[in-house]
Amino acid sequence: MKSALKVIALTMAAALPLAALAQPQKAPAPAPAPAAAAAGNAKHGLQVFLTVGCYQCHGTMGHGGQGPNLARLKLPPAAFQALVRRPAGNMPAFSENTLPSADLTDVYAYLQSIPPPLEHRPAILND
Ligand code: HEC
Repeated sequence: MKSALKVIALTMAAALPLAALAQPQKAPAPAPAPAAAAAGNAKHGLQVFLTVGCYQCHGTMGHGGQGPNLARLKLPPAAFQALVRRPAGNMPAFSENTLPSADLTDVYAYLQSIPPPLEHRPAILND
């Protein structure tokens, strides 16, 4: 008998979080205006990354090539934008005309969405 009670108690405890999940959802938030989406659209960012030519030096996956790895970039968004407008070294500058700030925000979102490259590459690839 005792174990039956225990089973009931456990079942109820397990059901509690589910009950919380089943609560009616709040009214859906209004869709954000595309330009105001702070987080950016990673999918569109990938398209921009490819069409504008970032991939030529940073790789399609942003894992680097002639330019450094950009996956999960540590730079804050504002510093990223400033750097793309006025790069310090061998990278070409991208003006607002070629690459509007909204698109650049999307590129940033894309870069943030890329998993970092493998830290431990198979030794055979290091030659
Ligand atoms: C012609 C090659 C080339 C292209 C095209 C290019 N980059 Fe670069 N990028 C570089 C190089 C090389 C560096 C390393 C620093 C330097 O020499 O300027 C760099 C550095 C960077 C950095 C700094 C990374 C860090 O960790 O500090 C960012 C961010 C960046 N590039 C973003 C972009 C984006 C976004 C685009 C496309 C809009 C782009 N790059 C296009 C070559 C390129």
